[in-house]
Amino acid sequence: METGDSAKGDSSSDAKRKRIEDARRRAERDHSPQLPSSTTQSDSHDSREPAFDTVKSDSFAGYHVVREIHRGGQGVVYQAIQKSTRRKVAIKVLKEGSFSSAAERMRFEREIQILGQLQHPNIVAIHDSGEADGHFYFVMDYISGRALDDYLTSAELTLERSLELFAKICEAVNSAHLRGIIHRDLKPGNIRIDPNGEPHLLDFGLAKMAGAASGAETGEPGLMTMTGQFLGSLPWASPEQAEGVPSKIDVRTDVYSLGVILYRILTGQFPYDVSGNIREVVENILRTAPTRPSTIRRQINDESRRSS
Ligand SMILES: Nc1ncnc2c1ncn2[C@@H]1O[C@H](COP(=O)(O)OP(=O)(O)OP(=O)(O)O)[C@@H](O)[C@H]1O
Ligand SMILES: [Mg+2]
Repeated sequence: METGDSAKGDSSSDAKRKRIEDARRRAERDHSPQLPSSTTQSDSHDSREPAFDTVKSDSFAGYHVVREIHRGGQGVVYQAIQKSTRRKVAIKVLKEGSFSSAAERMRFEREIQILGQLQHPNIVAIHDSGEADGHFYFVMDYISGRALDDYLTSAELTLERSLELFAKICEAVNSAHLRGIIHRDLKPGNIRIDPNGEPHLLDFGLAKMAGAASGAETGEPGLMTMTGQFLGSLPWASPEQAEGVPSKIDVRTDVYSLGVILYRILTGQFPYDVSGNIREVVENILRTAPTRPSTIRRQINDESRRSS
């Protein structure tokens, strides 16, 4: 199993302990089938996180920071205004700044490069990146609205609207796949629905180029930590992700997660039980046959089963 930490060779054991703790929190949170607050409440603040240096409103040249909108495992996201255009933007900042490990920086840089390659109306657009006061950051469009999981609980979608929305999400993922990019963390918390009902795919923080060297070769962390914690989002993970075999991961991994998302959109449930401990959930992902969606939502008839 790849371990991000073993490859980092970093000098501070405190920093290392903190990163492992962050990864543990993140794995616990993302493991929760209740759709963790940091991903369901789109603009939430995770109060369990230790304080992170508060950035000043003018920390990023050319931008005026308005508020913090999210504090995640690796980064903090701010809402800001680009001074020259007055448009709203989101700024994602690597949490540990210049103290972040080489592997975390590599992953952050890769997210920037990957977003730079993607141009699709349903994928968030990146505009700028840099380093300010030792903090690595990038600037993207601000997507107002709410995360897909929030949206699903607040809107009763018809079957037709559900499928239409899902098709747009698939188009976005497909455009990444056509460029050889695998997202690897597809889940409703990483998809925002704007006020016009359009989906926007976010968070390419775990994405990789298909066929790129494995983490073991590059020193980049995989989806498991040294303690065996899962770094993605287990309830949405494919069997090969859950099993922890990075070499088996390809675009089909995203397709599998899209299937779980579709199931959730259509039925409000997961295809199998994801409420137990990690070992039980992995077992269910690997071996449990999904409950037929039409037994949960009766309108899902033969026709929609064929077309989905
Ligand atoms: N462009 C954006 N517009 C509006 N909100 C955004 C944008 N980018 C990110 N956010 C908000 O910040 C949250 C975290 O962003 P993202 O998933 O990219 O960061 P992360 O550090 O990988 O977080 P996590 O580990 O929780 O997934 C999103 O779920 C969303 O609520
Ligand atoms: Mg995310």
